[in-house]
Amino acid sequence: MTQIVVLPHVELCPDGAVLEGTPGESICNTLLANDIYIEHACEQSCACTTCHVIVREGFNSLNEAEEEEEDLLDKAWGLEPQSRLSCQALVGETPLVIEIPRYTINMAREGKHE
Ligand code: FES
Repeated sequence: MTQIVVLPHVELCPDGAVLEGTPGESICNTLLANDIYIEHACEQSCACTTCHVIVREGFNSLNEAEEEEEDLLDKAWGLEPQSRLSCQALVGETPLVIEIPRYTINMAREGKHE
């Protein structure tokens, strides 16, 4: 098992969490299995950006992002060099530290009244 530290997120995980991940399993599924209900609007088919996470530690141990994921990430709220779509990023053997961004694009849109 691989340790995954989840940094506090005000709604999804206010106190943060330490999870055990299975190598080869996606970060998204690992979060969901541990009652951290990250959004996954496209049902994990790499067609939205709501499952965006920032991998603060262990980024290089993950499988490489496909072009499709990179293109979508460009549209994600709060993109950083260590951003991944959690449904596409598979846990490896190296411990991870994950940050769930404060907003997703869907939520950000709802916040605007244009
Ligand atoms: S759930 Fe939509 S891209 Fe991950």
